[in-house]
Amino acid sequence: MNSMKKNCKESSTGRQITKWYKTKGRNNLPWRENITPYRVWISEIMLQQTQAKTVVNYFEKFISNYPTFEDFKSASEEDVLSLWKGLGFYRRARNLYRAKEMILKKFNGKLPNSFENLITLPGIGKSTAGAILSIAYKLPYPILDANVKRVLTRLFFKTNSNEKELWDLSSQILDKKNVDDFQQGIMDLGATVCTPKNALCGECPLNKQCISFSKGELPTVNVKKINKKNVYLEFEIYEKNQKIFLIKNNQLGFWDGLWIMPIAKTKQLKTEIIHKLSHRNLHISFANRSKDELKSEGKWFDIAQLSKLPTPKPISDKLSVYVQNFL
Ligand code: ADE
Repeated sequence: MNSMKKNCKESSTGRQITKWYKTKGRNNLPWRENITPYRVWISEIMLQQTQAKTVVNYFEKFISNYPTFEDFKSASEEDVLSLWKGLGFYRRARNLYRAKEMILKKFNGKLPNSFENLITLPGIGKSTAGAILSIAYKLPYPILDANVKRVLTRLFFKTNSNEKELWDLSSQILDKKNVDDFQQGIMDLGATVCTPKNALCGECPLNKQCISFSKGELPTVNVKKINKKNVYLEFEIYEKNQKIFLIKNNQLGFWDGLWIMPIAKTKQLKTEIIHKLSHRNLHISFANRSKDELKSEGKWFDIAQLSKLPTPKPISDKLSVYVQNFL
């Protein structure tokens, strides 16, 4: 009896979220129009580490290049990286390409609609699989991204909660009959109302049942502190006849598949710009070199080609100086 009561209460929470979503959700996000499994997949990969407002333009550009999976079939890894240029976390783009190849080889060109198959694809973990299954296929699977975690830890006042506990709560409150709207609703609630700072509790559809709201206090959360490494990189600029020399296969452990300038073997700790990655702070400097000193394996690119080439932000910023001088 007790557990019946609990389940009823909890799915009514789910229904309230769905109802809120229908009037207050972000209804202008392009991946919410013409929903197809392909569009949901592309958007969910882009949304993994990037806010919705930033993703909008990248999603639209990607979709105008490849409107359907059929159009995407023949894209190269470099094509995908070029469309990802500026979005960061390029591993997502490489995984998207690898997943596409696997869908073609193993799944007959169809994005799987089972959890077991989806999570075999590169870049698709438990939460992204849950988002694809619920939004594209309307199947009741939980998700647990940063927004959902915050809503749940506050709603149930979970101090130092563990993942298992939060996955269970995410499953329990699902509005199974409207799981597509429900999932987008709980993500929107986290992004627009139950925000990390200055939450708008007065506007929250769940404030009457939110334990944190009634206590007037937020649960403490475990924050994993990342000890970032400082990495010093001096890039060598080789220029001849309006061409720049770039390399693709670097040994850095990041920026795989992107074009960069050769890296100098120097122990000098110079910093012209600092570029922050998730686990490293890059201290970057540049040095002009003569082409006679060139030893790396790479390619000369016409300056006119550079803006289309997949390059990381600090490199494209530097190259844009050459592009502007050329134009
Ligand atoms: N973050 C992750 N998935 C999302 C979605 N479908 N809509 C908005 N934000 C999201």
